[in-house]
Amino acid sequence: MSFFCLGIETSCDETAASVVRDGVNVLSSVVSSQLVHSLYGGVVPELAARAHVRLILPVVNEALDKAGLDVSRIDLVAATYAPGLLGALLVGLPFAKGLSYGLGIPFVGVNHLEGHIFAIRLEYPDLKPPFLGVILSGGHTELLIVSNWCEYEELGSTVDDACGEAFDKVAKLLGLPYPGGREIEKLAGGGRAVIDFPVPDPGGLDFSFSGLKTAVLYYLRDHPEVVRADVAASFQVAAVRAVVRRVEQAVKQTGLSVVGVAGGVAANGYLREQIGLLAQRMGFRLLVPRVGYCTDNAAMIAAAGFERYQRFGADDFNLSALARTPICPPGDL
Ligand code: KG4
Ligand code: ZN
Repeated sequence: MSFFCLGIETSCDETAASVVRDGVNVLSSVVSSQLVHSLYGGVVPELAARAHVRLILPVVNEALDKAGLDVSRIDLVAATYAPGLLGALLVGLPFAKGLSYGLGIPFVGVNHLEGHIFAIRLEYPDLKPPFLGVILSGGHTELLIVSNWCEYEELGSTVDDACGEAFDKVAKLLGLPYPGGREIEKLAGGGRAVIDFPVPDPGGLDFSFSGLKTAVLYYLRDHPEVVRADVAASFQVAAVRAVVRRVEQAVKQTGLSVVGVAGGVAANGYLREQIGLLAQRMGFRLLVPRVGYCTDNAAMIAAAGFERYQRFGADDFNLSALARTPICPPGDL
């Protein structure tokens, strides 16, 4: 008998819903990106919340339609409860609870970062932990040992800006629209990485990206005639070098032979290529999901929700939305 999980994601500026069968088969994945934020050069929380309110029902209905299922066939509803913009989370989470209550089916809250890890499983359903997990998103940069599904050991994270945040901020400095990661990649494609931007090293397996952004800021101030594409290409090389360096160290330190990379920045072609070269050199198996599973989506939330339900059962309706929380809150295991 098939088990259908409806996933709902509203932690930032994507309203997304998906139906996943048995934790790994994506029957539909609908992502509505809110374009309004590009007018302001970044996500405006209040506008994000309002757009989620407008979009949530049509997006959920579209996900059900594309899956060819009536809502009565859904066995479990999973929604992101943290981390993210509170006003945005407070659309998808109560919607999911209401649906669960109305249909008399269980509800599970999912940590968005855990969702990104499960995007790797969606692409590689046979994957078994342990593996090294690398999450590179707009708000987080995490290096973890995934010791078992839903069990993590954090090795390092960013001490300041997230990797995607650095792409977004540098894009803004270059006059590119939000979100900036893809724009930087496009511009970098026509440039040469001739500027040697320094990448700060906070030590251990932690990351630091704010110094890199500041280096770009000063470079642009001091070289107004510079070719913007060269700045984009040089920044991209420096940011990717910072990630590759940490992955190399983490593989050496842990001896793990499988590395999964996820989150919006994992959509970057240059990053995928460079980690690919590292994988060849070091001999580890590299798993990077397709672009649509790297960037925010609800299929990953449904996949994570399914696994959490198998392991821990349903969540209580008291589960609150949280702006910040680690991938596995203390006491969760
Ligand atoms: O995981 P995600 O979709 O949302 C968050 O959880 O934050 O990641 C969004 C981030 C943004 O910072 C965006 O600029 C970046 O991922 N991003 C990229 C690319 N596509 C999205 N960064 C570099 N290259 C890309 N192609
Ligand atoms: Zn994300």
